[in-house]
Formats: sequence, structure tokens, C-alpha cells
Amino acid sequence: VCVCVCVCVCVCVCGVGGGLPMCYDWGEASEGGVSVLEGEAGWLFCPLFSHPSVYNYTSTRKDRLKPVWYHLPEGHDVEQPVQYSLRVSRDREHLLLLPAAAADTGQYICMLSNQTFCIKIAIRLKVLRPDEVVRDENCDPPVAVAPSQKIIPFQTGGLLDCPDVEEARKMATGNTTVTWTHKCTSPSNIHRQQRGASLQIHVMLNTYQGPYFCSVNYEREGLKLQFTRSVIVNFLPKLPSIHHPGKDQITTVKRNSDARLVCTALFPYLNSSWDIWWTVDGKRLDKLFDQHRFSRTSRWREETLKNEHGDRTVESVLLVQDFQSQDLKREFNCSVRNARGFETRRAQLEEEVSLPSLELGCGLGLLLLYRSWFGTDERHTDDKEYDVYISYARNSEEEHFVLFTLRGVLENELGFSVCIFDRDSLPGGTITDETLSFVARSRRLLVVVSPGYASRGSQALLELQAGIDGMALGGHLRVILVQYKPIQRQCWVRELRRARVALVLVRWQGDKSRELTSRFWKRLRVELPLRRVSMLSREKGSALCHDSSFVFLQYFI
Ligand SMILES: *[C@@H]1O[C@H](CO)[C@@H](O)[C@H](O)[C@H]1NC(C)=O
Ligand SMILES: *[C@@H]1O[C@H](CO)[C@@H](O)[C@H](O)[C@H]1NC(C)=O
Ligand SMILES: *[C@@H]1O[C@H](CO)[C@@H](O)[C@H](O)[C@H]1NC(C)=O
Ligand SMILES: *[C@@H]1O[C@H](CO)[C@@H](O)[C@H](O)[C@H]1NC(C)=O
Ligand SMILES: *[C@@H]1O[C@H](CO)[C@@H](O)[C@H](O)[C@H]1NC(C)=O
Repeated sequence: VCVCVCVCVCVCVCGVGGGLPMCYDWGEASEGGVSVLEGEAGWLFCPLFSHPSVYNYTSTRKDRLKPVWYHLPEGHDVEQPVQYSLRVSRDREHLLLLPAAAADTGQYICMLSNQTFCIKIAIRLKVLRPDEVVRDENCDPPVAVAPSQKIIPFQTGGLLDCPDVEEARKMATGNTTVTWTHKCTSPSNIHRQQRGASLQIHVMLNTYQGPYFCSVNYEREGLKLQFTRSVIVNFLPKLPSIHHPGKDQITTVKRNSDARLVCTALFPYLNSSWDIWWTVDGKRLDKLFDQHRFSRTSRWREETLKNEHGDRTVESVLLVQDFQSQDLKREFNCSVRNARGFETRRAQLEEEVSLPSLELGCGLGLLLLYRSWFGTDERHTDDKEYDVYISYARNSEEEHFVLFTLRGVLENELGFSVCIFDRDSLPGGTITDETLSFVARSRRLLVVVSPGYASRGSQALLELQAGIDGMALGGHLRVILVQYKPIQRQCWVRELRRARVALVLVRWQGDKSRELTSRFWKRLRVELPLRRVSMLSREKGSALCHDSSFVFLQYFI
């Protein structure tokens, strides 16, 4: 066996700064992009300067590394050098957008280069329209930047600093003013006072919680600039709480299938660590004896469903493989903890009494379902070898249907063991005994009726007689008739005509019957021994009626 391995070597040559030999590309900065509100002052910090010990403004000047900014507008694939103007300018490590415009959205590449060296990194900028910003209250100013968080314990004091005000001070060529609002009004009273750019809360009260907004106004070389930030203020305590499962909530589980137990909890914003975990009979999952059956869907990180002002709703899912009745007795608890508190809740489980699905619908589906609950598996109570013995007229139109469709589905899809005597293995001699013996070792005799079926002296007639005798003698054999094509009753052999009254006839209805969900297969399954399809082993079907005195051909679909 030859294995060919192709190795592709990709050489990346930067499109930026064409004259340079090679530029180290650090890709896109991992901290995520920057959001700016349209019309507000915005700036991009070149992430190459994030580690001043590696690159800083002083050292790059010494190495004659020139910072250059490129812009790749959204929907474009070629970056262009940023066109500097009064509005767009470079200031040491920053690219300033004073103010930001909608067209500024896109990727920015910050590059440092001299004659022998080049390095670049990309950063994403999104300029949001005011109506694209989610606001709690209509009167709240739109803020593009995520809020910062501040905890001030109840009835104590604290100072709120307006984020980025220092940046404004550095840029400003005049005075910088800051205006605070809380719940759409100025938070000025005996408990709260503005001190410089900051807001002093002398006594923290319940009503002083929530988002505060600070609007920064400044001037730079004649340009009047403005931006707004927000700070969310909370006080302690903030207990974690389990939302799901509820106190009296019942979770349904299905036996023999995997159960998913979902726990969701709220962790109010708190400057502390938090945890959510499942226990089984009081033990954490890693302490369980049979721990392979119990797992969390995400191993290391719980899923945060939403994060509103730092209040997190978190989900943890416990997966129980192959849920069994004895698992119903176990105590599955979801627990949550943060610095302020702890809560635990047991998941109340109940076995699901599944109603028939729409697909099964009425009648037959229901019958199959009830039987799968209450029926007994004949395999445990008899000593038969085959589920189905198929009898049919050899050399007939039905032969293909029998060998391929019927046998294929019964064996491969439904997991029955099927016995078919091959027409080639039919000499005279001892055939009678052999046929009788195989029919007797089957649970059902499936007779495919056709005009030529069971003509005098044929193998099929023998099979049919064996089957009818087996039924009559109470030998735990049942005969089922399958009609492939409509035929008139007078064409049936006498044995069949006589037996008909007591036998079930299942009619094949052409293409309509091809789907496994069709009436034909449901009807047939009702008549055949009970099998729980999900538990079937594929090998079952291949148990064929072998006998030393017969040549047996195997057919494959
Ligand atoms: C700037 O970089 C130089 C050389 O890389 C280093 O010696 C210096 O400490 C850096 N300065 C700062 C403020 O980190
Ligand atoms: C270019 O920058 C590199 C890296 O900082 C430095 O090692 C090199 O000396 C600089 N070359 C010149 C000509 O300044
Ligand atoms: C959170 O706690 C740490 C230390 O426990 C402190 O340094 C930090 O300032 C706190 N953050 C807030 C927003 O209170
Ligand atoms: C800036 O602030 C100083 C001191 O608060 C004040 O005297 C001055 O008039 C202000 N300038 C402008 C242009 O508002
Ligand atoms: C499981 O939760 C219930 C409350 O739903 C609690 O009474 C019980 O003690 C908890 N069990 C464990 C082992 O934590």
C-alpha cells in the first residue's frame, strides 16, 4: 500500500510596506476589537506597545522604528496607509480619530519598521451608531465601551473614577470637564458629590446602585471633543442563586438513553471567584467510582449564557450515560458558590413515559410502542433459532423483493434473524425433514403469496404445510401472509385459501412502502417478534439457516 503525502509550504509575504524584505506578522491582537461611538472621540492603541519592555516609544525612536498605520476598511481586501488629517492623526502609540466616523470601521494594522526590521499587528475597530447601542433606559446616553464595575459596600463610601479621562487630559490642549449622571439626573446630593473628574459617594444606599455615566468634554487644537463611559455600582452581599432546576421542578429522564441534567444559576456581579458544580450522592464527579458515566458537557469552563452588567447567568450540564432505573434513586445536586454564599438543589427525576411521536402517530405506531413497553421478548422463553422463515415462490417476480428488500430490511434494519432456503439447494430426497425442521425452529413463517405460490410439489408448499401444521399444533409458530402484488383469491392454493381466515395479510404498496416508517413495515413489525430496535446488534441478522446437507447462498444488498 502506498501512501502519498503532500506537504504544502506556505510562504507569506506581506502586502504591507512593499519595499521591505520581510515583516513579522503578529496577526490580529487577541484582546479583541475596539468600539467607538460615531461622532465621539476615539483612539486605537498600537498593541505592539502593550509590553513596554519589548517595544516602547523611547526604544523605537532609538532604533529608528517608524510607526505606520494601515487601514483595511470592511469589505475590502487591500489595506491602505491611513490618510492623516486634522481628524485622523497619529500620536505616539495611538491613532486618534477625532471624532470617529462610520467609515472608520474595519481592521487597522500598526506597523513598526526601519531599513532592516519590520513588525506588524492588526486590531479591529467598530464604529457604532447611537441606535446600535443597547440602553437600559431611554434617557441613558449611548456608550460603546463596556462598562467598568465598582463595588461599594452598603453604607460605606467610595470614589468613582471616569474611565479614560486621563487619555483625554493627555490629548486636550485646554480644560477637560466631566459630567456625571445616574438614573438620568445629576447625582448631586449630600451623599454624592463630584470631586474633580470623579464622583464621591459618601454613603452607599440601595438606590445608588446601577449604571453611572460620565461624559468627558475637552478641546484639542480648536476641535471640541466628547466621549461617554459608564461605571456600574453594586453593593454587597450578592448571593448566587440556582434558577434551574426549580425547587419543585421535575426533570424527566429516559431509561437506557443518555440523560442531560441542566443547571442554570445567577451569579450577581461580585469581585470574587465563583463556582458551579454537580454532585452525585454528595460526591463531586471526579470522586465517583463509576465516573466514566457522568460528565459535564464542557469540562473546564461552564457556559455563561449572559452577562448583564457583570451579573452572570451560568449553565452547567451533567451528562449521565445510559440512564438506568437505579440512577433514579441517586441524589443529583447542583451547587453554586461565591464569596458571599452557597446554594444546592437536588434535581428531581422522573422516568419519562414517552408518548408516541407524531411519526408513529395512531394505530400501529401505538401498538408497537405498547408492545415495546409491555411485550416480552420471545427469545427468552423459547429455544428457537430464527425469528422469521420466509417462504415464497421460486423463480417468480417476488423473488427479488424477498431476497433484497424483505430480507435486507428484516436483517439489517430491524435486526431479525431470517431463514430462507435457497432455490438452488432443493433436490428431492430428505428435503421434507429438513424443511420441517427449519420451519419448526423459526418463530414466524412469512409467506409471500403470489399467483405461482405453492404449486403442487414445490418447496413453498412444503413450507406452508409445515407452517400451518406448526400453528395448529401450538408449536409457537405463527404464519403471516405478505402480498407483494394484488392477486385474486382463487389463484391461491387450497391450503392458503383454507388458512386465510386465521392469517394476517400485510400488503406491499409499491414505493409507498419503501420507507421504514410506512404502514407496511409497521404492520409487519406488529406481527413479528418483539425487538427493541435501539438495542439491536447488527450481527444478529447474519445468523442463517446453515445445514451441512444444503448449500446456502448469501445475498448482499
Ligand atoms: C523601553 O525599552 C527599552 C529597550 O527595549 C528598555 O530598556 C526600557 O526599560 C523600556 N522602557 C520601559 C518604560 O519599559
Ligand atoms: C531596526 O530595528 C531593529 C529592531 O529594533 C534593530 O535591531 C536595528 O538596529 C534597527 N536598525 C536601524 C538601522 O536602526
Ligand atoms: C477586586 O478585588 C481586588 C483585590 O481583592 C482589588 O484589587 C480590585 O480593585 C477589586 N476590583 C473592584 C472593581 O472592586
Ligand atoms: C480652564 O480651567 C481653569 C481653572 O479651572 C479656568 O481658570 C479657565 O478659565 C478654564 N479655561 C477655559 C477655556 O474654560
Ligand atoms: C441536595 O439538595 C437538597 C436540596 O434540594 C439538600 O437538601 C441536600 O442536602 C443536598 N444534598 C447534598 C449531598 O448536598
